[in-house]
Amino acid sequence: MLTAEENELFTRVGPGTPMGRLMRWYWHPIAAVSQLDENPVRAVRLLGEDLVLFRDRSGNLGLIDGRCAHRRVDLRFGIPEPQGLRCPYHGWLYSPQGQCLQMPDEAADTTFPGRVKLQSYSVRALAGVVFAYLGPEPAPLLPNWDLFVMEDVARDVGFQVLNCNWLQVQENDMDPAHLEWLHGHFSNYALERIGRKDLQRPPRNPEGTRTPVGERRDWAVYDQGIMNYAKTPNGLREVRPSIFPNVNSFTTDFMYRVPMDDTHTLHVFFTSYAQDPGEPPQESVPYYTVPPSIDVHGNPIWDELDNNGGQDAMIWLAQGPIVDRTKERLGESDRGVLLYRELLRQQLRIVEDGGEPMNVIRDPARNVCITVPPRDGSTIEWNGPDEHLMRRVTGPYKHSPVARDMVEKYRGKDALDGPVH
Ligand code: FES
Ligand SMILES: [Fe+2]
Repeated sequence: MLTAEENELFTRVGPGTPMGRLMRWYWHPIAAVSQLDENPVRAVRLLGEDLVLFRDRSGNLGLIDGRCAHRRVDLRFGIPEPQGLRCPYHGWLYSPQGQCLQMPDEAADTTFPGRVKLQSYSVRALAGVVFAYLGPEPAPLLPNWDLFVMEDVARDVGFQVLNCNWLQVQENDMDPAHLEWLHGHFSNYALERIGRKDLQRPPRNPEGTRTPVGERRDWAVYDQGIMNYAKTPNGLREVRPSIFPNVNSFTTDFMYRVPMDDTHTLHVFFTSYAQDPGEPPQESVPYYTVPPSIDVHGNPIWDELDNNGGQDAMIWLAQGPIVDRTKERLGESDRGVLLYRELLRQQLRIVEDGGEPMNVIRDPARNVCITVPPRDGSTIEWNGPDEHLMRRVTGPYKHSPVARDMVEKYRGKDALDGPVH
């Protein structure tokens, strides 16, 4: 349970808020490069700001204030030109740094353009994804997390807008009790509803042998965030890291939970697939959009609930736009969530005291390839356990234009309609 003040502190992300200031220290994914190939100008809502992302006709990326300085037209309607983006209304031209370069209807010798500059932010592409940085300059390095820079890899990237606050999405990382219930019992019920009992999974923690999750799992802060551990007879085994502040890492995936504003989160699904050595590199990273798991009336869309990703998206919305944490009742099974909140408090304090929070990377040597445990940097169980690959044909991943091809490539055509386990 939190006080109302602390719940506000953790969930408000707009300019000038403490959490907004903390989040601004990190690079956030905002679009796919392949989206810009389709349309080089896109509206972006990020950390409570309305911005426009564009690629000009010289290939430069810009991320600037979403409205023209002249009479406040939305620049998503702008025209990309060799030197920047031109407003469609009266033709003011802006550089990728937001500097006004031309005002066609002012006198030829006017100094007015030099005095008009829109807010602009750093933006960079990596692994087919465009990342933005809204924090203090100089910007830190864009982290080269392992899945972004490994070779012989094909990738795709999916986007889903969640009508809820970012924190309830991220807290789910430290909540393994939901694996058994949401992704076990509820999942099997959802599969029954859509006539796919063949996809149902056996219980993870069956009656008779049942142990509460707090006795099977543990959590600890490590240098990238919080590690979820399984307790085994041989000690703790790393299971799944939650990378501070808003990334989940799981086998061949990263999931980013990007705060668009206090009540909207951009969920970014980044997936890697093994390629055989010698296969031609992927020409561009395809993108897909994931529909919501609940309809406009707030009811489940069962066809989107056939795997973990869709089920998670449902449950985040089922907690409301912003969880009222003054009313929650936490138990032993929630120790991971409490640990994460403690880490948030600590990192918020560091920023408020003028320091740099964790995972802000400035050393190029450290940034060559940042390994995320339990990966060891050289081998990944690429498509190894069936679940990791086969779940691509269900849930949010089924909207990817390449997921079925990858399953067919590694498992054969028959696998496409077969059971997940
Ligand atoms: S409103 Fe943009 S140029 Fe006039
Ligand atoms: Fe989940």
